[in-house]
Amino acid sequence: MTGEAAHTAYPSPMPPERAPGDDGTETVVVTAEQAAREQALVEQVIASFDGTESPRLRQLMQALVRHLHAFAREARLTEAEWEAAIGFLTDAGHITTDTRQEFVLLSDTLGLSMQTIAINNEAYRDATEATVFGPFFVEGAPLINNGEDLAFGAAGQPCWVEGRVTDTEGRPVHGARIEVWEADEDGFYDVQYADGRTAARAHLFSEEDGSYRFWGITPTPYPIPYDGPVGAMLQAVGRSPMRTSHLHFMVSAAQFRTLVTHIFVDGCDYLERDSVFGVKESLIKDFALQSAGTPTPDGRDLGDREWARVRFDIVLAPAAGEREQDLHRVAVQDSRQEGKRS
Ligand code: BEZ
Ligand code: FE
Repeated sequence: MTGEAAHTAYPSPMPPERAPGDDGTETVVVTAEQAAREQALVEQVIASFDGTESPRLRQLMQALVRHLHAFAREARLTEAEWEAAIGFLTDAGHITTDTRQEFVLLSDTLGLSMQTIAINNEAYRDATEATVFGPFFVEGAPLINNGEDLAFGAAGQPCWVEGRVTDTEGRPVHGARIEVWEADEDGFYDVQYADGRTAARAHLFSEEDGSYRFWGITPTPYPIPYDGPVGAMLQAVGRSPMRTSHLHFMVSAAQFRTLVTHIFVDGCDYLERDSVFGVKESLIKDFALQSAGTPTPDGRDLGDREWARVRFDIVLAPAAGEREQDLHRVAVQDSRQEGKRS
């Protein structure tokens, strides 16, 4: 251990054993009269938003009510369960501070963060895929030059990371701002230590040919904070809080869609059960282990230490306006082709 923070051992309860085909729930039969009463309430509440000035706010509130009521009705929510849910949200509010966001953790562990990312970062040609942002990005991380080390003393196996930033036509993007952040080998980000350190994070810029390179540390798996209500929820349902090993990137450049993503370590045990559903196949990379004494790309002397290397080529999608124009061009071309065929 290198700091005061500590993860307590996380028990990993197994789900209770059940007979095949028995999901442990009861089927409740609702009479037509009862269903009609429930439906009337849904419609009354939805109608109460009819006068909302903003059409978007009206749409959001009415859809929310529709789905919340559908949930309560489908699950036949009991009053005790409703109270427990209110207690859960109250606890989430109490534990939330400027540096601990329990509601984001809840959204992450329910897959809602990844769903929102999927909705808002639609696939564009071969642009690099986005994944979850997480709570540990910090504005104003140190600037490093290409080839420098962003570990700043964080414990971990040295890892050489290199690649190129290009557009979807393969043209280099010069001057892209590349933010990188990661946990140390004990599974902690610098901000989780009480001593105010800055480590395992930095930003750098791509060179004229789009290339970038730096030393970091080989990512290892770590748990999301689980000492609050979200941790209790995961434990109650027999889910692990572990995130599969990853290195965070945020890449921005004028005229391009900002990319928030990670790369994941091929072979990590948690790839199939990342607690926040962040893994995408295209982002799994080979972090090739190098034995001690293997010459490093920049001649750095690592003595008797093993190290790793990984390549991550980043393809940026154009900014919104350009994307739309391009999709329009493709649609027009498609319809012309279609016209020629018929
Ligand atoms: C992270 O990768 O840093 C993270 C993402 C979601 C929840 C907690 C942590
Ligand atoms: Fe992370």
